[in-house]
Amino acid sequence: MSGIVFERVSHAFDGRRVVDSVSLELTERRVGIVGANGSGKSTLARMINGLVEPDSGRVLVDGLDVATQGREVRRRVGFVFTNADTQIVMPTVREDVAFTLRRHRLPRAEADGRVDAALARFGLTELADRPAHRLSGGQKQLLALASVLVGHPAVVVADEPTTLLDARNARRVARHLAALDEQLVVVSHQLELLEDFDRIIVMDGGRVVCDDVPAAALPRYRAIIDADDADETDAGRDAGPDAVERTGR
Ligand SMILES: Nc1ncnc2c1ncn2[C@@H]1O[C@H](COP(=O)(O)OP(=O)(O)O)[C@@H](O)[C@H]1O
Ligand SMILES: [Mg+2]
Repeated sequence: MSGIVFERVSHAFDGRRVVDSVSLELTERRVGIVGANGSGKSTLARMINGLVEPDSGRVLVDGLDVATQGREVRRRVGFVFTNADTQIVMPTVREDVAFTLRRHRLPRAEADGRVDAALARFGLTELADRPAHRLSGGQKQLLALASVLVGHPAVVVADEPTTLLDARNARRVARHLAALDEQLVVVSHQLELLEDFDRIIVMDGGRVVCDDVPAAALPRYRAIIDADDADETDAGRDAGPDAVERTGR
């Protein structure tokens, strides 16, 4: 069975339910998740590769239970964070990309070939020996994509992957995401990124309040935001716990 399944999944932080009995079967190639800050999007997305374990319910990826088969799941699911610094783990660009393959036990030549291909695909060949932390924000996010894709995941989950980027780099990253063959789950406030997706999940207060094609779901989300407009919110700025958590890579 392929796809991502949430079976009555709930999760609370400090006694407050932030994901509330969500059931979904995501088999479409490109799925967007939208919702106001704090609506539970990141928590939901993180459950797909076990970065967050649900208090109740089950999450399955291609029939594998994330709770009990986490290692297999993490090999299938690549996760792209808002803040690319979160997922840089090695000193140089090339080493960082190669790090993903450390458990794949590939012959050296094959591993090198895959790293070279990933670097080339994301325009990083020239930067291969640079210190990863010195890259620009846009380059770091391309490195994050290269480091995820080199593992040949079946699913790529990206949590606000363009939020911290300037418009030009956001477009560049969006173009790369749009070109992926893998199943893609993207959390974003940049709705133009999601307009040609197959399916949009709208979250509000930890629940799925709309689940439809973009032409129906995105206007619904805009209506929710407009209704909330009196509130503070700085939509799109919630790097939140991403900045401190490890990557699951
Ligand atoms: N690690 C955590 N510890 C405590 N509270 C958290 C943690 N992660 C998220 N939350 C809270 O859970 C709620 C949902 O967060 P999140 O899933 O990040 O929402 P979104 O991604 O939609 O902004 C928010 O109120 C947030 O503050
Ligand atoms: Mg979030």
